[in-house]
Amino acid sequence: MTLRSGYSGLQIGLHWAAAVLIAANYVISDGMGEALDARLSGQPVLGLTPVWHVWAGTALLAVVAVRLIVRLMSGNRETTGPKTLAERAADVGHWVLYGLMLAVPALGAITWFGMTDSTGDLHVLVMNAMMLVILGHAAMAIFHHFVLKDGLLRRMIPLN
Ligand code: HEM
Ligand code: HEM
Repeated sequence: MTLRSGYSGLQIGLHWAAAVLIAANYVISDGMGEALDARLSGQPVLGLTPVWHVWAGTALLAVVAVRLIVRLMSGNRETTGPKTLAERAADVGHWVLYGLMLAVPALGAITWFGMTDSTGDLHVLVMNAMMLVILGHAAMAIFHHFVLKDGLLRRMIPLN
């Protein structure tokens, strides 16, 4: 069985834009603790990492907000009948991902712009949870496509 896509080009573009921003912000994060300490104690914040981390992360918030609006307006899959149990489980997982994608940059922004170190640890903790869920999500997508051979990846990679 080959699954059909219900995602628009805009939804697919936003999916990969968010994925790239999350991966890049994970990689470019070393020294954010020190940058925050400098900011809180009135010292100059040095280096390009904080500039990138803060603004790419804030851009992610905007991307996820637009994504959520588009998702709520246009839905996801083309379904002819009621959703199967597996489709409902996937939907739950996807809403968890949306929640984490909002919570991680929001907690980062509260920490940085709110000038507090009380939410920094939570930002990193929730970020680790998000990375685990993302790994599970990617593994499920690959399992569907290559083991169940249902063409799932074509929903987000519309090559033909
Ligand atoms: C930072 C990384 C990622 C995040 C945050 C993410 C998030 C999401 C979310 C929230 C959805 C649900 C879309 C909706 O129904 O509105 C989705 C769908 C999907 N994602 Fe990802 N994703 C990521 C990476 C990946 C990767 C690496 C792959 C491929 C290996 C992938 C493949 C897919 C596929 C195939 C769907 C459609 C699933 C379906 O309709 O059942 N994603 N993703
Ligand atoms: C998907 C988006 C994000 C990811 C994956 C992410 C990832 C990380 C990681 C891995 C660290 C630990 C760095 C280290 O100490 O070595 C960190 C720390 C930090 N991030 Fe983010 N971040 C994101 C968004 C943001 C945003 C939007 C902001 C601010 C506007 C932000 C502000 C901070 C701050 C202030 C710290 C230091 C926290 C502390 O040590 O108490 N982050 N982030």
